[in-house]
Amino acid sequence: MHIHTLERNWLWVAGSVVALLLGTIVYTAIAHNIHPPGQMETIDSASLHLGGEFAEDQLGVRVGADGQIRVTLVAARYGFFPRNIELPSGTPITFRIASADVLHGIHAPMTNLGTMIVPGYVSTVTTLFPKPGEYPLLCNEYCGLGHDHMWSKLTVVDPQNWHPDR
Ligand code: CUA
Repeated sequence: MHIHTLERNWLWVAGSVVALLLGTIVYTAIAHNIHPPGQMETIDSASLHLGGEFAEDQLGVRVGADGQIRVTLVAARYGFFPRNIELPSGTPITFRIASADVLHGIHAPMTNLGTMIVPGYVSTVTTLFPKPGEYPLLCNEYCGLGHDHMWSKLTVVDPQNWHPDR
């Protein structure tokens, strides 16, 4: 079979680009320890409102016995509940988020809070917010007609001015 020289050269170019991109993914995964969430914690999305950690009266911000601040959120069409949360800056905070219906994503611009919320799984993220301010919590996975309006509010305050709800 005859392949034109020009065509063969371009095959090498295209093949090299693919190899470079795959190589970059493998390199960064190993060198920077980047990996998809490995912790597989499952939950029944259809019944999570009926009791337990994700029941309505259990949602929101709380301080554990170990002093760790936890935020429990439910993502559902179309919002993150509770709608408003207030957190201290410069403090490690663990978010636990579950979807009550379909796939959602949570993203707070200008921070590194961002994860998918897959129905049937609990998404856990620990992060801290360096600067006080108001941040929107946006949904970044298309989840239906109201997707563009799916957002809640995060207020980050100076730790001296922060008082836990409970
Ligand atoms: Cu929820 Cu888009």
